[in-house]
Amino acid sequence: MKVVRGTEDEISRLIAEEFIKQIQKKHNSVLGLATGTSPLKVYANLVKANQEGRVSFKDVVTFNLDEYIGLEGTHEQSYRYFMNVNLFDHIDIDKNLTHVLKGVGDYEDYAKKYDDLIASFGGIDLQILGIGSDGHIAFNEPGTPFDSLTHVAELAESTIIDNSRLFNDISEVPTKAVTMGLQSIMNAKKIVLIATGRNKAKAIKELLRGDKSIENPASVLQDHPDCTIYVDDEAYSLAK
Ligand code: F6R
Repeated sequence: MKVVRGTEDEISRLIAEEFIKQIQKKHNSVLGLATGTSPLKVYANLVKANQEGRVSFKDVVTFNLDEYIGLEGTHEQSYRYFMNVNLFDHIDIDKNLTHVLKGVGDYEDYAKKYDDLIASFGGIDLQILGIGSDGHIAFNEPGTPFDSLTHVAELAESTIIDNSRLFNDISEVPTKAVTMGLQSIMNAKKIVLIATGRNKAKAIKELLRGDKSIENPASVLQDHPDCTIYVDDEAYSLAK
């Protein structure tokens, strides 16, 4: 794994440039996308680049990592809603080519088909990840097998607490999600992970300095042939 250090603005810009390069190289690139606070500035940079005419998303295909079970895509805390509001509504992407796991209805069935659907587009060219304070990537919590494909997952208590900041009350945070598995993520050709802030320092230390262990889901990335970890000083502080 390569490490790139900078301020949140710097690393967000660098990651956005990776996405732009990828799309310039292959107009119908398949992108793996994340929600949460971490990628917000990356997406803002992509919106700007699209509006300035530097890059077009019209043939780009996307797959999101995860979705809460029980939330319709129109719910303000759903990840479909997040993607529309923070990226898709502002760029020239064909929304029919944007895939987000379903949180309601036949969500289990859709989850079972998700890895094959990704493969039918040739696999993910570039995947962006955040990381949870407990080392989760997507919603793969500690204990998730490294060979997992897309599946239904229970959220760890620490994740429910972390994510409750976005809900009116902690009781409203869904306790289950559908998520790409660790193997699904490892299948991506290239991975970038972004982590900022003190709350991520322990997870980044364990990712960069710890052993590969299923108690630390992100440690699976240690074996990926093309994975770069982008961190600010606070997130890197315990890994020095
Ligand atoms: C979101 C996702 C999660 C987040 C992680 C960090 O799609 O897969 O693993 O990346 O929980 O969240 P933030 O960025 O909000 O700190």
